[in-house]
Amino acid sequence: MIGLRALGVQAGDEVITTPFTFFATAEAISLIGARPVFVDIEAESFNIDPAAIEPAITDRTRVLLPVHLYGRSADWSPIEEIASRHGLRVLEDAAQSIGARFEDRMTGALGDAAAFSFYPTKNLGAFGDGGLLVTDDESVAETARMLRMHGERSRYQNEMLGYASRLDALQAALLRVKLRHLNTYNLARRDAAIRYGEMLAGLEAVTAPRVTVGHVFHQYTIRVHDGRRDEVRRRLDEAGIGTMIYYPIPCHRLPVYAAEYADVSLPVAEAAAGEVLSLPIWPSIEASVQERVARAVWAAVG
Ligand SMILES: Cc1ncc(COP(=O)(O)O)c(C=O)c1O
Repeated sequence: MIGLRALGVQAGDEVITTPFTFFATAEAISLIGARPVFVDIEAESFNIDPAAIEPAITDRTRVLLPVHLYGRSADWSPIEEIASRHGLRVLEDAAQSIGARFEDRMTGALGDAAAFSFYPTKNLGAFGDGGLLVTDDESVAETARMLRMHGERSRYQNEMLGYASRLDALQAALLRVKLRHLNTYNLARRDAAIRYGEMLAGLEAVTAPRVTVGHVFHQYTIRVHDGRRDEVRRRLDEAGIGTMIYYPIPCHRLPVYAAEYADVSLPVAEAAAGEVLSLPIWPSIEASVQERVARAVWAAVG
């Protein structure tokens, strides 16, 4: 929300984003009184489909808000090309992608500004809530600093309605230590993803994610075909293996938005919501644990 407001988004504006994300992405837009305009995703990456963005641009469009889902960068070249052609600013939702790259550029350094999350489950997790906004635009930075501190530029001179959104010093101290290990953690996640890919190769009922350049595998999310996702999940659960579904309902079908977006159909995102399954992954996961998971997946679809 701070990022959107610092980029100038106001009530009545439109922000183009993906429906296949955690609700917070869209919620931030709506809380400002702006309107999320959801466009479909790419089937392979689960990220916003750049080809769907341009047809959705109107006079009211102010910002593009792509998400680097599961730790994989959105396809950035066409996004920045469209933004520059239409004079739009771009905010990255980098909540899941700290340390990830698009080609040789870091996510967070691609757009006009980027928002990171330090929620404990993230690749760089605090011991409670926390987040970070980055930008290389001095005026965006200044507005963001004011918004995080009740709209103050100088003490007790409140100029706008803001928030209490400071990072706790305790969390910052913990994050500073963990930050030194982020690269190691992310490389270990990638190694784990490569191992899963080998273990699941040849399984036709499942599509495993590609290990693309710069992907940091916040999640290792497979696609289970033929309507068998929930059954596979149940079988894994019976074997004592926890999985998650990110996300079971695309944003435009959530109860909070369902009536407003009843006429909107985004078939790729809707299909993904019925097929995705995130397998256990963390930096120190052992190959033997992954073997057990992979064997259970084979058994469930075999
Ligand atoms: C894609 C995405 N956007 C936004 C958020 C919100 O992050 P936070 O809860 O730290 O505000 C999350 C985290 O849960 C997320 O995964």
